[in-house]
Order: sequence, then C-alpha cells, then structure tokens
Amino acid sequence: MDLVKREITAETITPYFEEYFGHKPTHIAAAPGRVNLIGEHTDYNNGFVMPMALENHTVVAVAPSPTGNHRFCGSLGDQIYEIPVQDALSIGEPFWSNYVRGVLALLDRRGIKIGPVDMLIDSNVPRGGGLSSSAALEVSVCTALAAFAGVEIDPKEVALIGQSVEHEFVNVPCGIMDQFISANGRKGHALKLDCASLNYELIPMDDPAVSVLVFDSAVKHSLADGAYGQRRKQCEEASAIMGVPSLREATLDMLEESKDKLGDVRYRRARHVIGENVRVASFAQALADKNWEKAGSAMRSSHASLRDDYEVSCAEVDTLVSLCDRIPSASSVYGSRMTGGGFGGCIVALVKTEDVDKVAQELLQAYRQETGIDTTYLITRPGDGARVLFKHTPEKHSLRQSEHGNNAQILSRD
Ligand code: GLA
Repeated sequence: MDLVKREITAETITPYFEEYFGHKPTHIAAAPGRVNLIGEHTDYNNGFVMPMALENHTVVAVAPSPTGNHRFCGSLGDQIYEIPVQDALSIGEPFWSNYVRGVLALLDRRGIKIGPVDMLIDSNVPRGGGLSSSAALEVSVCTALAAFAGVEIDPKEVALIGQSVEHEFVNVPCGIMDQFISANGRKGHALKLDCASLNYELIPMDDPAVSVLVFDSAVKHSLADGAYGQRRKQCEEASAIMGVPSLREATLDMLEESKDKLGDVRYRRARHVIGENVRVASFAQALADKNWEKAGSAMRSSHASLRDDYEVSCAEVDTLVSLCDRIPSASSVYGSRMTGGGFGGCIVALVKTEDVDKVAQELLQAYRQETGIDTTYLITRPGDGARVLFKHTPEKHSLRQSEHGNNAQILSRD
C-alpha cells in the first residue's frame, strides 16, 4: 500500500489550494479510512460489523470557482481538471473524478445544487490496501460540499450517499460498512453497526496497553472483479433457499435442515455469515470487558471461516496470519485476521503495545523470507469520523480578523 506519512490538516492544505487556484478555500472537511476489526462480508447480509476509523484521513478543500466551471485537483502534484457544472453530474474522466461526480449527482438529486466549485483533495489513507480510501474520498467530498452549501446532512445519510456513489458511479456493489464508519467513527472507539437498522453502538477501545497493527500483504485486490458480487449472489440464493429475507434471520439449525438443498458452496457461505454475526457479538463483549484473549480468539475464528468457508483470503494473507503465531514475539499478539473485502489487502492484529514495534519488525522480516515481498504497516488507534475542519464565516470576519489576522474560523468537533 502506498503509505503517506505526512500529516494533513486544514493548515497544510490551504497554501496548496492557494497555489493551485489563486484564492483561499472557504470550506475544508476530512474523513478517515477504516480497518474492520471483525464482521466481514456480513454488511450486505443485513448483519453486524465492527470497524474503527483510522487516524489517516482524506482532506478536501473547496471554494466557489471564479471560472463558471468546476475545477478538481485529485492529489498534490496532479493536474487540474476543469469540468462544466452540468457534465459533472454524470460518469466521466478521469476515473477518480467519478467519486466527486457521484457525490455531486446524489446531492443534486436531493435538491442540493452545487455551483461552480474549486476543489483540492489530499490524503494519507493508504491506497489499494483495503483500508477504504474510496469511502474516505466520498465521505470527505460529501462533508465538504454539504458545508459549502450550508446544509446539515445526517452522517447516516452521508454514508448512504457514499454507498450509492460506489454502486452507480464506480460499479462496486459494496455494503454500507466502509462509508458508515468513515462518516460516524469516533476517536478512541470501535463502532458496532447493525447493518439492517443502521443503529450503532460506540465501544471504547482506548486501552493504552493494546495496539492495532494493520499489516499489508502487498497483494492488490479489486472488488469490481466479480468475486465479491458472486459472494453476494450466493448469500442471496442461500437465504432464498432457507426461506428467510436475509442471512441475518438464518440460524445454524435452519442451515443444517437445508444442507442438502443448499449444496456445499452455499452451505459454507451461509455458515460463515451466521457464525460471523455471533463472533461480532462475542468480540464486542470482549472489548467492553477488555478481555483481549477472547477478542483475539474471535479474530482467529473469523479468519479461519473467511479462508475456508467464504474463500476470500489468499496465500499471502494466510501466511501473514499464520506468522503472527510463529514469530518469536507471537505471545504478544492476541489475534489477527484478514480485514476488508479480501483477495489480498491487509491483516489486522491486536498486539501488546509494549511489543508492537518488535512484532511489526519480525513480521516484515519473516514475510520477506517466506514470500520475497517487502511491505509496509500501520500502527493506529481509533480515529474520528468525518468532520468539517474549517468554515469561512463572513459574519465573524471583523472579530476574527482582529484576533488572528485572518477571516477564518477553525472548527473542531471535540
Ligand atoms: C468491502 C466492502 C464492504 C464489506 C467488506 C467485507 O470493504 O466495501 O461493504 O462488504 O468488503 O466485509
């Protein structure tokens, strides 16, 4: 994964914005990537997930454009794309602009019309490692544009907009987890989401003795390549055969009763989803009790189920998870599992903080030895969800100017 270590804030993006567009941004928002602790491939089955927001985020700065068109710049160093306001409501080039186009179109459908806007995006969410850099992009763009338009959008709605952008503009049939945690995450907390009702619970995860290690297999995955959609379809078929609206309503008894009708593959797919929902509950309890052994054991079972029943892991990711049990500091790892859609990407491990650097170094070395792959990792704590970082407030202009010598107010949610 492309690991950007730079810190990105309203203060760091503003001078770039001025350099690119020749004027100051009026609104700046941020939204994080995520790592899923447990509850994989359950979101589109109306089940439970338990992700946390990363500290890494995407920052979007906007201002009215004097050109009459939109001007988008997707990352520092990229060129500026000028796009007529009407054209930006449909799919187009460059590819990444579809995340922005999608948000503009979804807002437009809700009656929120955005006039010509200059937009600069900067991010330190690793790309291509399964840490939801695309959700961070959709949610940060939506949060910035809502602030720009002067409207409040419920974070649940922001998440749904992000998901629709994936479905309609990027052709990725994802569930709601990634966008939901990016919009609703809270510093120091994991979030347990009921994907049927979208009710959620924030569970403190602030024990300084335990760290979250996210380790990249450096194997690329693509959710658009069909395997994800195929899993979704197999789950829908399994719930139809069992006569339930979704696998959320299925039980292990029902599964055994329908075993012959389901056939081996659908049986195993459904067994994963039913078991994973139970594991989320057990993990959530373990977290609340700070019972890290129990949390780690739920993670190990989750990985085995994803590998054997759901078949979304891959050799390199399995190697990483097994190395967590074989490196010299293995006793400092409570548990690990693949995280995200699968077929590559990252593993997530809960590790004793005092040994986390040692564990990461041993993993780097052992992984290189067994696979020949050099890779990267992140040590992180749960970060905040989407937030407006900066809002130009003309009415406070004179007051603020005399205090700080500028016409801006820095906002923070805390
Ligand atoms: C991807 C999707 C999510 C979810 C996970 C698997 O990250 O975007 O909606 O389905 O895969 O848990």
